[in-house]
Parts: sequence; C-alpha cells; structure tokens
Amino acid sequence: MSNLPADSALVRACRGLDVPRTPVWFMRQAGRSLPEYRKIRQGAGMLESCRRPDLVTEITLQPVRRHDVDAAILFSDIVVPLAAAGVDLDIVAGTGPVVAEPIRTADDVAGLPVLEPEAVDFVAESVRLLLPELGATPLIGFAGAPFTLASYLIEGGPSRTYLKTKAMMYGDPQLWHALCDRLAGITVTFLQVQIEAGVSAVQLFDSWAGALSEADYRQYVLPHSSRVLGGLAEAGVPRIHFGVGTGLLLEAMGEAGADVVGVDWRTPLDRAAQIVGPDHSVQGNLDPAVLFAPWEVVEREARRVLEQGKAARGHVFNLGHGVMPETDPDVLTRLVELIHSV
Ligand code: CP3
Repeated sequence: MSNLPADSALVRACRGLDVPRTPVWFMRQAGRSLPEYRKIRQGAGMLESCRRPDLVTEITLQPVRRHDVDAAILFSDIVVPLAAAGVDLDIVAGTGPVVAEPIRTADDVAGLPVLEPEAVDFVAESVRLLLPELGATPLIGFAGAPFTLASYLIEGGPSRTYLKTKAMMYGDPQLWHALCDRLAGITVTFLQVQIEAGVSAVQLFDSWAGALSEADYRQYVLPHSSRVLGGLAEAGVPRIHFGVGTGLLLEAMGEAGADVVGVDWRTPLDRAAQIVGPDHSVQGNLDPAVLFAPWEVVEREARRVLEQGKAARGHVFNLGHGVMPETDPDVLTRLVELIHSV
C-alpha cells in the first residue's frame, strides 16, 4: 500500500480490498459537537460558511485533528448546490433547509435552474486547499440524492410525513420524474466538480428515502439515483449510498450503482451484508444515541458492530446517522482509538 489517499484504508474498504485496520469516520463529524466549530461559526451563517473556502477548510480539518478519523468529509450541505444554482433558500439553525418558494407546479419545475460548474467554484477551491493539508487522509465529497432534495424543495423545509412530496409523486408521476431528472442533473454536476477537484470518495445522501416502500422506491426514486451513481462509474472514486430507515431498501439502494451501502443502526451489518451481497461493502452503524451511555456500553456496541461488519466484503465504521450536537467529543475520540486498536 502506498501513502496516497487513493490507496487509503477507507478507499480500500469501499472497494472490498484488504485493509490494515477498519477505517472509521463519522457523519456530521464536523459540527456542533465540537467547541472549536461553535467558536469559528460565531456570526457566520451556515450557507455563508459553506461558501468561504477558508472556513470550509478549517471546519473540515477540525475533526481530523481532534479525533484522528480515517477520512475527512467536506464541510458543506446537501442544499448548497441548489442555492448556488439560484434557488432561494436558507439553512436555519435548529431547523434545517427552508425554501422561500416551494416547488409544487409544472411551472415551478420548469423554472428550476441548472447548476453551472462555475457556480460552485468555491467548493472546488475548498477541495484544492484541503488536499495538501490532508496528505494521505482521503477527503469524501457528497451530495443529496434526488428524493431527499425533492422533499426539501416540495415541502419547503423539513417534514415528518412528506405529505406534499408524496402527493406529487403519486398524483403527478410525470411532474415528479421531471423534477427528479433536473435534480439528478444538479447532483451529477456537483459531484463531478468535487471529483475533478480531487476528492477520494463520494457519498450520496438519500437520508429520507426510508419514508418509501420498496416498490415505490424502485418506481419513483431508483432510476434517478441510478443515473447519478451510474454517471460516476468511470470517475474512479468509490461511491457510498446512505439513507435512514432503509432496512427494506438496502438491496435496491445497492442496485443503484454504489460500491458501499450505508446502513443505519436498525439493521445489523451481517444481515445488511447478506442483503447487499458480495459486490458491495457496508458502512455504519453504531446508534448515535449509544454515545450517551456509559463507556462500557459504547465499547460493547462498537465491538458488536465491528464483528457483524466482518460479514461484508468491506466495512467502513461509522454511526448509523450523524453525530448529535450534544455528543461529548471525547467519547468520539476514544471510539476512534478503540476501532483502531481492535
Ligand atoms: O461533517 C459532515 O458530515 C459534513 C457536513 C454536512 C452537513 N450537512 C453540515 C451541516 C453534511 C454531510 C450534511 C448533509 C445533510 N444536510 C443531510 C444529509 C445527511 C443527514 O443528516 O441525513 C441533510 C438531510 C441535510 C439538511 C440539513 N442541513 C439538516 C437536516 C440540518 C440540521 C438542522 C439543525 O440545525 O439541526 C442542516 C444544517 C447543517 N448541515 C448543520 C451542519 C453542521 C448545522 C448547522 C449549524 O451548525 O448551525
């Protein structure tokens, strides 16, 4: 193995190659659990912070320095490419993305702008600044998948029921597919910019796809996520595909073209490995809430996840969803040490 990010434990585990130790990183590792993050974000809005390469670089590096994780994930958000394309939206602290004029009609969909690569120059610039700082540590780029992006655009903000999203999906499938087609285009462009700038892997977040049955997922979502992931097949970087509550969708999500299927804490990894088969690695899946239990419990659960992950062709240790803001960062550091020592 060489000392290049393309030959790192993360990339090798994603491809199902042998690794010296199980690589570990955490979704939302950069964020409010870190005092240094809360400090640097003072007075800077979320979207504004994502547009400033100096801030993106520093915030992306913070968890790498502190926890010694095996990968950095670019500090950004799934709605950043939508905002860059010209959609009027904001990320409201404690709420999430809020869209000024939700997309509900054929005219709204027709008016959705395309993403020109130059509009996300700040992302490419951030990646270029990060690569020399990271050295052998791989940088993960990411984007939101069409369904999850559509849910924010149609609902206008976070939702528990996805009622308006499903109303369009079931009520006007043609309009739904037209919207997802445009979103897939934005997502491909956004990921290609990151890949050309030098990220070593990409993750497609379809965080809320678990709201759908497998049949509906296959009919309304899979074609669009396949277009995104399939479109990157020749890009030379592993593709991770993640969602929450997707126990019954894991097989279909693997079929979308990912190298790695991300698994939340509800499905044991040995079972997930059986479902996705020998052509996919798995990522996950410690319950983020376990980090609030005594250390003995964290250790026992982390060892269980490692053990069950052995059933897959490759395993990237992670949480089953993002780090919660109230998490004690010292527990995360200790968890990385534990994973590295096993
Ligand atoms: O460390 C990392 O994982 C990289 C950074 C990252 C952020 N958002 C930063 C962020 C990533 C990968 C995302 C992706 C994202 N954004 C997803 C998919 C991942 C997931 O959690 O399922 C989704 C659904 C979003 C939309 C979104 N943005 C939500 C639901 C929120 C949280 C709202 C809140 O305040 O609790 C955001 C805001 C956001 N994105 C924050 C961060 C660090 C918090 C903003 C802040 O610090 O004020």
